[in-house]
Amino acid sequence: MPKETTKPVLQIGEPGPGVAKVDPILVADNVTRTFGGMTAVDVQHVEIPRGAITALIGPNGAGKTTFFNLLTGFDRPDSGAWVFDGQDLAGVPAYKVARKGMVRTFQLTKALGLLSVLENMRLGATKQSGEHFFGALFKSTWKKREADITDQAMELLARFKLDTKANDYAASLSGGQRKLLEMARALMTKPELVMLDEPMAGVNPALTQSLLGHILNLKTEGMTVLFVEHDMHMVRTIADWVIVMAEGNIVAEGYPDTVMNDPAVIDAYLGAHHDTDLGSLTGQLEVAQDIDPHLAHEIEEEIEEEAHHDGK
Ligand SMILES: Nc1ncnc2c1ncn2[C@@H]1O[C@H](COP(=O)(O)OP(=O)(O)OP(=O)(O)O)[C@@H](O)[C@H]1O
Ligand SMILES: [Mg+2]
Repeated sequence: MPKETTKPVLQIGEPGPGVAKVDPILVADNVTRTFGGMTAVDVQHVEIPRGAITALIGPNGAGKTTFFNLLTGFDRPDSGAWVFDGQDLAGVPAYKVARKGMVRTFQLTKALGLLSVLENMRLGATKQSGEHFFGALFKSTWKKREADITDQAMELLARFKLDTKANDYAASLSGGQRKLLEMARALMTKPELVMLDEPMAGVNPALTQSLLGHILNLKTEGMTVLFVEHDMHMVRTIADWVIVMAEGNIVAEGYPDTVMNDPAVIDAYLGAHHDTDLGSLTGQLEVAQDIDPHLAHEIEEEIEEEAHHDGK
């Protein structure tokens, strides 16, 4: 697919960190979070474009997961406000955030191993009227709702090719299948914004292609995606927009084909490797492993070739 021809116009105004978007689904201002004396997140202004796939990248410890936690109500900020689809969400707890249409997955999957795959899915559903006193009085309503949830869960499981495992313990799934389960579960609330924290981490290469397809499908269905990822190949392949975090700040934003040439981005990544000797292949490999597995693989081959050459 020629990406250039389908590239949507997302930004208005001056390019750079905090740039305004044509149609933002989420706008955050002055969001800070400190742990002890350390500032983990200090985001002055950021807008997430609606209907697009945005990658949030940055070196380890940049604050990406903490920012996800704050936005989705799993953690409380020291300061800040953010508006999702016109609704002020600062201070709103996670389960209510999900009901409002914003869900996230976790870097380390939270699938409950001793529940079945289907039970895990059912936990993703919200507004279980049966859980309310009056709802429970109307048992027929409750039963109908239960059946609907099961139908919806099975439909999603089929789409993620997990339907044959519906009654297996989640613990029996592979790492990649758990990532799929988590994504499927997130969709139970019919969200508008899906936030994925390292969806590819720990996924077997055989599953990565289908995971990429699933993420692209979310966009096709009209959802907005914000995902954290270290694999730059994946970022280039599916992201429409890239936001770069370093030391809690947003240091750069842009279209994927341009943002990686931004000196602030190179600084951010190399800053995390200030002791690395980039003149050596092993030094380059160390940095590449953090940024781009494909580049890392090429450097590995080069190192092998050199060793072979030297051996002769
Ligand atoms: N609960 C916590 N208590 C203390 N420090 C924390 C806590 N959570 C995160 N931090 C610190 O905040 C900083 C940002 O961490 P965070 O996990 O958000 O980074 P990240 O960008 O997601 O990194 P990675 O790419 O490795 O997942 C780190 O220095 C981390 O050690
Ligand atoms: Mg993280």
